[in-house]
Amino acid sequence: MPAISANAPGKTIIFGEHAVVYGHPAIAIPVPSIKAQAITLPHIHGQGVVRIIADDIGLDSTLDDLDEKNPLRVVLETLFNHTGIHHPPGFILKINSTIPIASGLGSGAAVSVAVVRSVSQFLGRQLSLEEISTIAYEGEKILHGTPSGIDNTVITYNCPVYFIRNLRIETFKVNHSIHLVIGNTGVPAATVETVGTVRNAWKKKTDHYEEIFSQIGNIAISGKEALIQGNLGYLGALMNQNQVLLRDLGVSSPKLEVLIEAALSAGSLGAKLCGGGGGGNMIALADETNSQHIADELLEAGATSYIITSLTPKTRGEDSI
Ligand code: PMV
Repeated sequence: MPAISANAPGKTIIFGEHAVVYGHPAIAIPVPSIKAQAITLPHIHGQGVVRIIADDIGLDSTLDDLDEKNPLRVVLETLFNHTGIHHPPGFILKINSTIPIASGLGSGAAVSVAVVRSVSQFLGRQLSLEEISTIAYEGEKILHGTPSGIDNTVITYNCPVYFIRNLRIETFKVNHSIHLVIGNTGVPAATVETVGTVRNAWKKKTDHYEEIFSQIGNIAISGKEALIQGNLGYLGALMNQNQVLLRDLGVSSPKLEVLIEAALSAGSLGAKLCGGGGGGNMIALADETNSQHIADELLEAGATSYIITSLTPKTRGEDSI
């Protein structure tokens, strides 16, 4: 049996993080220049043993030795159950990723999607996109607590998505190129924690938080049209409004605010945190001329790295580091 390699991209959320967990719409796009890769090889003489090697995180373990709540174990066991393969042949699964961990760019979901793709092909099972996404979602439950499913969805479908939890997955293309700069605070922040903080606050002041969530949802609804039409002024204003509401939710951080301010001062039309927040990454809207300038100013303001990415009418999204 040959080695089977599969990839999955990173992602960023343009509108609607956190509110999407509560059933409001959100928009996410893939970021293809960062990716997770999974390679499945036969484990000769492995006698049914599944060995998992992820050098990036210093992991070398058999599947059975992983904690029962390890997302990789959960995803693989879900895949075995789903395919009805209860005694898979031994294999070695090698995982690596260029997506920064715990930084709002979907690293966990991308690893899960790459693993499901690679191992299912190795086992000779052809899965639909919906099946891949559903299996990866089980890993998200461990990583996020109460995930909306937007990360596994955008990463599996690998194109812009307008997403409403348990209701709608709408993929779309833009009519004009949209340029974005993603800046990394270098501060890791676990999504499960920010999602949990928002949930506790929502339990105490439900009406107040519901009001913020529905305002964020309305921004995502308007944002989809602004993205498709390439209405940059409006798009930027909506991103800024979304950031005000994310601040109200308590998921911004001083370093995120510094980077957002730096992007706006450098000429960005709108900027906001992306993903769980509390650290991680922010995104800034650029025009066709100022992406590099914004990126340079982000570094100057303390960003540890940046990604320049574009959505174009032709493609699912092209980008460069
Ligand atoms: O931090 P990330 O990249 O895992 O994104 C999380 C997005 C949230 O809306 C905060 C959670 C979710 O499950 O949708």
